Amino acid sequence: MKALVLCAGKGTRLQPLTYSMPKHILPLANVPIVSHIIKKLVNLGISEIGLIVGYMQDQVRATVGDGSQLGAKVTYIVQDSPKGLAHAVKMGQNFIKDEPFLVFLGDNIFEDDLTNLVRRYNEEKPSSIIILKAVDEPQRFGIAVLDGDRIVSVIEKPKDPPSNLAIAGVYIFDKDVFPAIDELKPSWRNEYEITDAIQVLIDKGLTVKGEILQGKWLDTGKPKDIIDANMYLCSKLSGWHIAGESDLDEESILDGALYIGRDSKMKQCTIKGPVIIGDNCEIEHATLLENTCLGNGSVVKNARIVNSIILENSIIQNVKGKITNSIIGKNVELSSIDLKNDCTLLLGSDDKIIGM
Ligand code: G1P
Repeated sequence: MKALVLCAGKGTRLQPLTYSMPKHILPLANVPIVSHIIKKLVNLGISEIGLIVGYMQDQVRATVGDGSQLGAKVTYIVQDSPKGLAHAVKMGQNFIKDEPFLVFLGDNIFEDDLTNLVRRYNEEKPSSIIILKAVDEPQRFGIAVLDGDRIVSVIEKPKDPPSNLAIAGVYIFDKDVFPAIDELKPSWRNEYEITDAIQVLIDKGLTVKGEILQGKWLDTGKPKDIIDANMYLCSKLSGWHIAGESDLDEESILDGALYIGRDSKMKQCTIKGPVIIGDNCEIEHATLLENTCLGNGSVVKNARIVNSIILENSIIQNVKGKITNSIIGKNVELSSIDLKNDCTLLLGSDDKIIGM
């Protein structure tokens, strides 16, 4: 089975971060979101992957390359205009040809290994099978109504939800989905919705099944979702992994899981893991607390950070107050600032905030 991973969207809910990078390469536990997804697919036995790219696609290509480092063979497919998920899937038709295929939304993280979904598809051979998850705010998602294990209707972001079962970001389709997409009209948000294509399959009398997910599902559309997904992935870490050539002085206090990359230097730090530090970082007189991840080449001096993601080559120094639940882009400089209390920051790449 091949897979399509949809990575073309603009990620508007993550601006200003996504003014300079596509959300699909934002790091969670220091690994780009799209790489988490590709690894999951490879573990499922799916290595032939079509990445649907569009917005800032050069950065996705530079991050993933040909996929071989992740054990995959990646083919890039361009969706040149943002016309919705169904349109993105249609772009993949030549790559998929006639075989059943899996679609993975490029900003979704799952706890489950998804083997059950693939096993059920192969055994039951429906036209489509879709992952569903009970949610608290069904108005935010595509929603399915089940009769037994069969989906009898679906609706995108209903004002008055007929169930609380959200369509999570993984679907398996057979080739019947392509003519169903051809029948669609744009929705109220002017997109060709994959949810509407699923309703066409149901209306044609084809079998669409639901697989209710027990484990966690993290849809990383908004900054808070990114912080939550990072926290979840960090919680899986254990022990200390310190790459050769990194230097940790004896005055530093360490507790909890800690990952440090190559050639990083740490002096007089307090660390309460899980904490991840990339390569070539410099950390001095700093406190890094739970679920903080520093990208390669970052510098933190005289600052306290908790539950935050700092992208590569950013400098944070002489900051009073605690940086909390924050996402700080690449090459940011934040220095000599008094944040007073705990403060949440969302800074796009190349921002500079320098106090006097
Ligand atoms: C999309 C789908 C929706 C699904 C959601 C899952 O919504 O249209 O059916 O429930 O992904 O993440 P969007 O993220 O485009 O608002």
